[in-house]
Amino acid sequence: MKILAIETSCDDTGIAVLEIKNGKFKILSDFVSSQVKLHRKYGGVYPFLAKREHQKNLPTVFKKALREAGTKVKEDKSSFPPSLLLRKNSVIDLLAVTVGPGLEPCLWQGVNFTIDLAKKLKLPIVPVNHVEAHIVANFIKENYKNIFPAVCLVVSGGHTQLILMKGIGKYKILGETRDDAAGECFDKVARILGLGYPGGPIIAVKAAQFSISNLQFSIKLPRPMIQQKNYDFSFSGLKTAVLYEFKNRSLKIRKSKEYISTICHEVQQAVIDVLIKKTIKAAKDCKARSVILGGGVAANQELRKQLKEKVEKEIPHSKLYLPDLKFCTDNAVMVAICGYFNKSKKKNWRKIKADANLRCS
Ligand code: KG4
Ligand code: ZN
Repeated sequence: MKILAIETSCDDTGIAVLEIKNGKFKILSDFVSSQVKLHRKYGGVYPFLAKREHQKNLPTVFKKALREAGTKVKEDKSSFPPSLLLRKNSVIDLLAVTVGPGLEPCLWQGVNFTIDLAKKLKLPIVPVNHVEAHIVANFIKENYKNIFPAVCLVVSGGHTQLILMKGIGKYKILGETRDDAAGECFDKVARILGLGYPGGPIIAVKAAQFSISNLQFSIKLPRPMIQQKNYDFSFSGLKTAVLYEFKNRSLKIRKSKEYISTICHEVQQAVIDVLIKKTIKAAKDCKARSVILGGGVAANQELRKQLKEKVEKEIPHSKLYLPDLKFCTDNAVMVAICGYFNKSKKKNWRKIKADANLRCS
């Protein structure tokens, strides 16, 4: 079967076509149009601008994704959007779209576009939960049999959650951030330090430049909630601690390469320490057979390396799943995989709606 999936929950417009044969996934096309440049001047995502961009990008990304997938298209000059229709003998069997959680105006762009397609092609739609999609992105190549219960750490710009997964579609949120998400913390810290947007990748680059010779700056940031027995997180205090640390330095120091790499290294390590401590605790408490990482922050090499080391040392019998780097940040391939796993939940387009606060359950 072939699934066409659409992702617009935040600032990436993604469309992918996947073919599934004997439970194996083959990517026929995968397009993501990023709005990073546009949002850079605001230091974060500006929802109504993002919505407008999705509206603009969807027809183009759709056209590219279908062409690459080898699916025949014909122009439909009478309708806009979408300006294209699949031929009657279309080989797409199912549509999948992210319905939440995310930015409401952005979600509706993808949902309405998919509804339009569903009406024209007379196809059902699988509504996809974005957080679940980040989790199942791990299963594109990996075997997911006999791995449950699993503890999933989903860390992105919008979410930081620890989720107990008892099987596909069976979730319980163990804990989550009480304020900022981990990726949001990196984005806000990068803004304070004048490093640009998105913050996570640039902080990782600067942190890698840290060496012991930079120890002239002694910076110790808090590890919020690390000693608490619950599985919740809090990252807004960390961002404030960075703000005060930075403000109290002279202009000369603030501009020095050594200082920037030291503070980036420390803030990245503070986030990693908390994420790993709580994940390992949850995995031990839940007797997890596996630990699954997902979300944009999962692209962080230090987090991947340190989590791997900790899992091997402290819970050696648990299997660790780390998503492919290209499927960490938002994409439609993960939405297609999630749509396939949830194909029994397919619905008529009339029953599809966006839900900005959708939760895994
Ligand atoms: O999953 P995602 O693309 O969007 C949301 O669902 O929010 O995640 C984006 C987040 C941003 O906050 C970005 O700074 C962070 O992921 N990120 C990283 C890295 N790459 C992206 N954080 C740390 N290290 C990275 N290499
Ligand atoms: Zn995401």
